[in-house]
Amino acid sequence: MRKYIVLLGPPGAGKGTQAKVISEKMNLPHISSGDIFRENIKNQTELGKLARGYMDKGELVPDDVTIAMIKDRLTRPDCSAGALLDGFPRTPAQAEALSDMLKSLDGRVIAVPYISVPEADLIERLAGRWTCRASGHVFHQKFNPPQKAGQCDFDGSELYQRDDDKAETVTRRIRVYMEQTTPLVEFYQAAGLLREVDGRNPIEAVTASMLAILAENKTI
Ligand code: AP5
Ligand code: MG
Repeated sequence: MRKYIVLLGPPGAGKGTQAKVISEKMNLPHISSGDIFRENIKNQTELGKLARGYMDKGELVPDDVTIAMIKDRLTRPDCSAGALLDGFPRTPAQAEALSDMLKSLDGRVIAVPYISVPEADLIERLAGRWTCRASGHVFHQKFNPPQKAGQCDFDGSELYQRDDDKAETVTRRIRVYMEQTTPLVEFYQAAGLLREVDGRNPIEAVTASMLAILAENKTI
């Protein structure tokens, strides 16, 4: 049986930051829908051109496109034991589609850590975020600074600020999250899978809480 972990939380909650550590510890690939879209934008693919129009406005890419992209990704060989999902599902339709996909892959969602952070903190986190060009490692100028300004500690690649981290786009992303993604909190709560984590704590403390939750579920 393949195992899937779904990370839930608003923009800037720390999903990507935590996913990098948890995926290593659990030996599951980190699948970030946002990172796949950004990779497509960088490579100027048709998918990238389409996604960009939505991402620049802080809107969600349509469900059919996103679901097809994730379906393709989850059937690749590196996902043979399951995956750690970051940023997908993000709408009730995507959550239903994931359930269907997992039936055909003989897999199941084993836990849904939900990283909760107040809105004011999210804005500060996104305004100070620096992301690595090569593989999406994230830093923060105040909360998690790189050893050398402008350079990723892990692979030495350039750090950049995401186009959608501009103040007005961030506000829109948070609204879109409230409208379209928060129903998933109830969806996974009803399924008995949701585990809330206090994302206001320092990065290492959040990691420790998440690992404790996963261990408690006997998932590692
Ligand atoms: P996506 O890339 O998924 O962005 P997001 O969900 O908005 O989340 P972020 O990546 O901004 O935040 P994060 O939670 O990963 O936080 P991070 O760890 O970086 O999606 C982007 C866009 O793509 C969407 O708007 C949409 O258009 C499209 N898209 C993606 N998936 C889609 C889908 N399924 N359907 C449709 N469209 C989709 O941390 C943030 C900052 O905080 C960093 O600087 C970090 O260093 C710092 N930080 C982290 N943890 C802490 C802490 N505990 N204390 C202090 N600082 C911290
Ligand atoms: Mg992220």
